[in-house]
Amino acid sequence: MNASELRGAAHGLPQAQPSAAASSMGSSVGALLAGLKAKSTVLFVDQSGQLGGAEFSLLPLAQAFAARGAVLLLSDGPFRERLASLGVNVSVASEARVSGISKEALRFRWLFALPAIVRQVRAIAEAAKRYDVLFLNTQKALVLGALGKPLHRRPVIWHLHDIMSTDHFGSMQLLAVKFIARHLVDHVVANSRASAQSLASLTGIPLAAIPVVHNGIDTHAFANVDSADPGTLRRRLGLPEDAWLAGLFGRLAPWKGQHIAIAALPRLPDVHLVLVGAALFGEDDYAQRLRRQALRLGVADRVHFAGFRDDMAAWMKAMDVILHTSTEPEPFGRVIIEGMAAGRPVIAAGAGGVKEIVRHRQNGWLVAPGDRRALVDAIETLRAAPELAQRLAEQALIDTQRYFSLDVYVEQMTRAIGCVSP
Ligand code: UDP
Ligand code: GLC
Repeated sequence: MNASELRGAAHGLPQAQPSAAASSMGSSVGALLAGLKAKSTVLFVDQSGQLGGAEFSLLPLAQAFAARGAVLLLSDGPFRERLASLGVNVSVASEARVSGISKEALRFRWLFALPAIVRQVRAIAEAAKRYDVLFLNTQKALVLGALGKPLHRRPVIWHLHDIMSTDHFGSMQLLAVKFIARHLVDHVVANSRASAQSLASLTGIPLAAIPVVHNGIDTHAFANVDSADPGTLRRRLGLPEDAWLAGLFGRLAPWKGQHIAIAALPRLPDVHLVLVGAALFGEDDYAQRLRRQALRLGVADRVHFAGFRDDMAAWMKAMDVILHTSTEPEPFGRVIIEGMAAGRPVIAAGAGGVKEIVRHRQNGWLVAPGDRRALVDAIETLRAAPELAQRLAEQALIDTQRYFSLDVYVEQMTRAIGCVSP
């Protein structure tokens, strides 16, 4: 089933009462959930206990399936608490040796971790046997969950959140994914056409067999923050009231390119940069380097490190412009649709899934990834032309409500799960 079929299939829905878990979603999602193979149950597996984009995209899905699904995490952390607070049945099966394997170190370290890997494959398979469908949300979950297929014999659906290229992954991992995607996965859903294309190129799977479902967010929550008095909002957040603020949202990691935004500041004398996010996956060195870079460039008084925040909508609303600076192609980029939904002009690095969200000069501004000068020019342009920035932001708000709503996202993902239900 391809993406347009996924969308098109919505018309033949059985009408039924929404389940309690689905009732916080739109009524169409509730009806879909209640009607779709009523007995199908789902085990979602995610390797992380941290709150990254893949985890945020799983939250509403796990919530929608709370009555007939559960989440298994391969590491503990705030994600578990967040899921539990939504009424989701969540458990953790962690193996320190497996969690410790990073993308870069994969080549050798997995050998030492072999017994732990086997234990984890078994643990996932045992858990999966209690459900009808196994939904794998991250790379390690994919490998460990799919390898156990001879044990659990459940249909496997993989939510692909990554661009499967050498920019992001080592050759061993790409090889493993190639085998697994071809032989052990029943259905893949990609978070963007860019991610789907990368998987098709890697595996030879036809693009038409990889449906794309863009992330959706609660657009109303972002639009509804009261920013009529920006001064009060900024005071509440501890931000300078009168400065021109550029906000950069997301975890601190070299490929997210926070260093590009800091490097742009000497050329933008009155602009302050607000970095919202933390080093979630061990990139503490990079976080330290960013602070040193700001000091070295003499802009430390204009860089505000806000750390990880829960109230993204308020922080985004407090900005004059929102930046996205990833130096590698971004698979999707939730922070971009969030900034757009907050009604702020967004300047984004135009590669990967970003080009499926931002139309240059229509609903945002695209710059070449890693290009500090282009970033400076874009910020200067929007700063000098507030009416242009306002026009982009207005169109962005319309586009997010039209194309990136939570209801459409959950509905399409639910349908994708329905495709593999036994
Ligand atoms: N986020 C957050 N608080 C922060 C920084 C980020 O809640 O301080 C959220 C942000 O709202 C977004 C997610 O983290 O939903 C990041 O997702 P994105 O797809 O942009 O990037 P990823 O980290 O998945 O590569
Ligand atoms: C991944 C990607 C990010 C995407 C998110 C949700 O974490 O890095 O670009 O937005 O998943 O699909």
